Amino acid sequence: MARGLMKRTVCAKSIFELWGHGRSSGELYASLKSYPVDKMLPYLQSDSTYKIHIHTFNKTLTQAEKIKKIDALEFLPFNGKVNLKNPEHVFWILEDYGMDPNNVPEEPIDLYFGRWIADGQRELIESYSVKKRHFIGNTSMDACLSFIMANHGRVKPNDVVFDPFVGTGGLLISSAHFGAYVCGTDIDYNTIHGLGKASRKNQKWRGPDENIRANLRQYGLEKYYLDALVSDSSKTIWRKGMLFDVIITDPPYGIREATRRTGSQKETVKSAERSTENHIFISSSYHLSDIFFDLLKFAAEYLVMGGRLVYWLPIYRPEYVFLISASGEVERGYIIQRKLCLGKLVCL
Ligand SMILES: C[S@@+](CC[C@H](N)C(=O)[O-])C[C@H]1O[C@@H](n2cnc3c(N)ncnc32)[C@H](O)[C@@H]1O
Repeated sequence: MARGLMKRTVCAKSIFELWGHGRSSGELYASLKSYPVDKMLPYLQSDSTYKIHIHTFNKTLTQAEKIKKIDALEFLPFNGKVNLKNPEHVFWILEDYGMDPNNVPEEPIDLYFGRWIADGQRELIESYSVKKRHFIGNTSMDACLSFIMANHGRVKPNDVVFDPFVGTGGLLISSAHFGAYVCGTDIDYNTIHGLGKASRKNQKWRGPDENIRANLRQYGLEKYYLDALVSDSSKTIWRKGMLFDVIITDPPYGIREATRRTGSQKETVKSAERSTENHIFISSSYHLSDIFFDLLKFAAEYLVMGGRLVYWLPIYRPEYVFLISASGEVERGYIIQRKLCLGKLVCL
């Protein structure tokens, strides 16, 4: 289970089987001495190899200090041979010196010793960084957050994942990384077709191949790209019976980009925009609470049973509260009527 978790998470660096913990080295040694020997022995056999690492948070130790701390563990029944290059078992001493770099204590606040089990996927944050991405926009989703969302959606190989506010497809990339087929829609013709002004500094216009497909190609994930369509998510285009496994999206909040939907002359039309040379569309404002209402309604109709909808919801902290449901579960939400609350949010 621990390895399965670490194969997906971008939030944790490593996971260990904890053998001991203390608030001083004395406490740590006492804790290690009380750890059942039969749980240790399988990893300390004479025909095995091992290595002990030491990692400190908020303090740098000299090599001599590190060796001293490792040597102090000689009371543990290590019978195997030390192998620094390719050990079978790796043990870690973790020392926590707090969070304040201007006030580092002489001795650690917490000490841990454990057997290393697995590393998390934090390197994905760097390898999928938006900074090095071919096609970006003003609101391209950060790589780390995209992976967190794909994990919340429990995206798995061969799923079909849909983003109704796809933008530059930042959220499609993390799902495709986990082997899902991805597609999306966006109201903005220029974004879907990779046209118009570039979002990068020192670049005026988007280049010929700046689009979502090229982004997926950049990461070797093109085979997972189904398509992206120009469409207003308030007007569903999907045939009844079409089902997605997961919907992952970052709706517009009206802060960094406008919230809008297509309108008609009959409705209160706010503006008529010229989107491309020969395409004019009329848009009216799209209230935040309506966006979320439409999104929930769409998910209720177009998700498979047990499918997941993952989205961002801007909140106003003073009014965002914990609710205890009748079954005793703790849920987060608004007590006041949703429309009223979101209305206030837009004003913020
Ligand atoms: C926060 S951005 C999404 C960014 C995207 N996750 C990415 O990584 O690039 C929201 C997107 O919603 C689009 N949008 C706004 N109103 C829309 C509507 N009514 N229907 C579909 N897309 C809409 C905007 O054009 C914008 O690209």
